[in-house]
Amino acid sequence: MEWTREARYRGLSSISNEAFEHMSEQVKHSPWRQSYHVQPVSGLLNDPNGFIYYKGQYHLFYQWYPLGPVHGLKYWYHVASDDLIHFKNIGPAVYPDTTYDSHGAYSGSSIEIDNQLFLFYTGNHRTKDWKRVPYQMYATLNDDFQVMDKQPIVEGPPCGYTDHFRDPKVWKEQERYYFVIGAQTTQKAGRALIYQSDADFNFNLLGEIQTGLSDFGYMWECPDLFKLDNKDVLIFCPQGLEADGMNYRNIYQSGYLVGDFNIETLEMSHNGFIELDHGFDFYAPQTTLSKEGERVLIGWMGLPDITYPTDVYNWAHCLTLPRVLKVKEDKIIQMVHSDVEKLRRKSNETKLEINDKLTTVDLIQPSRTEVNISINAFKADTLKIAFSNYDEEVVEITYDKNSAVLELNRRLSGELPSNQDDQTRSICLDQPLKELKIFIDVSSMEIFINEGTHVMTTRLFPTTPYQQCKFSAHSGTVGLKMKQYELKRGKS
Ligand code: FRU
Repeated sequence: MEWTREARYRGLSSISNEAFEHMSEQVKHSPWRQSYHVQPVSGLLNDPNGFIYYKGQYHLFYQWYPLGPVHGLKYWYHVASDDLIHFKNIGPAVYPDTTYDSHGAYSGSSIEIDNQLFLFYTGNHRTKDWKRVPYQMYATLNDDFQVMDKQPIVEGPPCGYTDHFRDPKVWKEQERYYFVIGAQTTQKAGRALIYQSDADFNFNLLGEIQTGLSDFGYMWECPDLFKLDNKDVLIFCPQGLEADGMNYRNIYQSGYLVGDFNIETLEMSHNGFIELDHGFDFYAPQTTLSKEGERVLIGWMGLPDITYPTDVYNWAHCLTLPRVLKVKEDKIIQMVHSDVEKLRRKSNETKLEINDKLTTVDLIQPSRTEVNISINAFKADTLKIAFSNYDEEVVEITYDKNSAVLELNRRLSGELPSNQDDQTRSICLDQPLKELKIFIDVSSMEIFINEGTHVMTTRLFPTTPYQQCKFSAHSGTVGLKMKQYELKRGKS
């Protein structure tokens, strides 16, 4: 079908419950449905929203267009779990049903106030002549997580900024509420702004965060600001950066500044913007505090403006696994949250001495595997790790010891998303390769390198699951240990 503007702005009320059930039944039977990642029942998922541990449960929402694999009229869809891996589908939570959010309930966050959950988000309104008017909104939820009340708290963009003004991330500090929000100056430069209010929700603009990055993309989406390990971290997603060597290779970027933020002067010191993930499919992450008080991040495993092979089955995208963040030497380290270990079942372990002949190991459970590789002696120039199926589709990870560059190549991995320029992504490691932790699901791979110092996330669309892991080394040998776990299915 052709996704005209009119078609994209049709919502759930335009189809019957039966028609919707039928659509999600068809989606269930499509190839490439994930086993343990949050994915949409139908249509398109994008940014994680409103992530919070509240009254003994994790609540997570995501941007959702229900009727097809396109960006259209956005809802918030709600999933919940006792831990960070067994998320269950609850249903749509925020509907675009007021004038303020008539053209989409866009991204935002949540906060608990006096035992009640408040959502903060951007209401996207379009006038008759299609002029965008952003409203920053709050919504209160009742005990059944249904929206009771919605109110605008900031109407339109502030003076000096365009209508690209969205994605409030809220927090409370010393009896005051704050949010950081993505913005674009009238000169078309991306910025993050801070608002503040007393208990009355009368929010005032404090100003721009002074990062010194005055010419760094035309728009910053989904900012997030928090303290971690005695540092301040500002995460944001700049749009419009040029590719620069191994950096900024995706259509839009997602990264952070680590330094000290002064709420009086709004100055943020830092040593430069660092990308959170060097894979193909990662964007618009959001963090919250876990029940243990760790800072946990979940991202969208996808990007805007790309068509994916699942589109023809009427669904697109999923969320990443939860990652615990830590700051080490002014950089963020990302480790998969330990709740993910609850998926582990059988395991096996092999010690291998890799040389220039192929060493093949069968995967313990193709398409639901955690593979841990630790290297004890690297006496070669390169190491190649290839995951392959019997259809000769392969995804390759190659590490070159002399340059310390690790490359992920999905050129021959199966079907591919469209309009992504090149099918390789690379990263120069801070330290020699020591360790890899790889999570394989039906249509994705998340690769954690050297205990989370670097991460590469990618969607993959093989004809059949990758069955084997093939190792080879050039000009020498590599001694390593490979431990695999079969993973069981998650819930959603
Ligand atoms: C990021 C984003 C946000 C916006 C949302 C709309 O992917 O563009 O800035 O709120 O998606 O779905």
